[in-house]
Amino acid sequence: MPPQTIGVIGAGLMGHGIAYLLAAAGHTVRIYDPSAEWRASLAARLESARALLGGDPTLLGRISAHETLAPAMKSASFVFEAAPEKLPLKQQLFAELEALTAPDTILASNSSAIPSTRIGEKLKHRERVVGTHFWNPPHLVPLVEVIQNEKTSDETVRRTMTLLADAGRKPVHVKKDIPGFIGNRLQHAIKREAIALIASGVCDSDTIDEVVKSGFGARMAVLGPMEQSDLVGLDLTLDIQNVLLADLDRSTEPTQFLKDKVASGKVGMRAGEGLRKWTPESADAVRERLRQFLVAQAKAQASRG
Ligand SMILES: NC(=O)c1ccc[n+]([C@@H]2O[C@H](COP(=O)([O-])OP(=O)(O)OC[C@H]3O[C@@H](n4cnc5c(N)ncnc54)[C@H](O)[C@@H]3O)[C@@H](O)[C@H]2O)c1
Repeated sequence: MPPQTIGVIGAGLMGHGIAYLLAAAGHTVRIYDPSAEWRASLAARLESARALLGGDPTLLGRISAHETLAPAMKSASFVFEAAPEKLPLKQQLFAELEALTAPDTILASNSSAIPSTRIGEKLKHRERVVGTHFWNPPHLVPLVEVIQNEKTSDETVRRTMTLLADAGRKPVHVKKDIPGFIGNRLQHAIKREAIALIASGVCDSDTIDEVVKSGFGARMAVLGPMEQSDLVGLDLTLDIQNVLLADLDRSTEPTQFLKDKVASGKVGMRAGEGLRKWTPESADAVRERLRQFLVAQAKAQASRG
């Protein structure tokens, strides 16, 4: 896709990464953020993303920060909204965007959970409202779920997916605006079963992680579960499901075990304890391991073109 002018709303964790990856793809990016603090720290955060990926220093010159919405959205062909996860705020921003942008400007929300159907419900031109669910950090994790709601046009989905694919992302088309889209539904299906196994004393959390990382997770980056089902044969998959499905956890709400953890303040690394105990050093070691892995993957992908 030829260079576009793109608006990004929110210079936080997600917004700065989205701005970085779009600028790295040659686009001009204008970020709106009302917070002077977030705007002040933006340049350093963008530079650290650039240094991490070895990007051309001149690409940062294509990104500008703005304290008001109108100049940031001027002549934008796409807008990516990454403001706080609050429905009234997002609805208000989209209402303002409708007045500030051309009728065919694509308005994309990075909301994790709020349906874009709700975010765009007061707009006149709802066919250009779409969900784009990036994964954190967006400049390192390639997946973007492009969520088509009932009003989103096929053309909006096509243009959005083209922009993202040309920017080196892996966009996937989610054809219905459902909670959790695809990725979080799959993640939480695993987490529901894993937490139930721990709560019922089958194993501890280290064991769950070992089973995933050394078992099916070790091959998942190159063999998705649907490919794996065809590889072993759907007849085997059916035989296993006949035995297993009735025994899997089917809770329709979080387990008491998880609620008790949260109620007692054991929320994970930042509290020093969650499903296991953490020191600042052991928590940092996990973060660093993840960072190095994602950077190596992103560099390998970039070198493959
Ligand atoms: N953090 C994640 O892992 C993740 C992953 C996927 C999607 N998301 C979604 O992305 C969105 C942003 O999340 P984040 O983690 O980047 O949050 P964040 O808190 O890091 O950033 C939010 C930014 O929005 C700015 N902001 C505050 N009020 C605003 C306003 N009125 N208008 C415009 N900007 C405003 C803040 O100053 C801040 O810079 C949320 O909808 C979130 O659910 C987050």
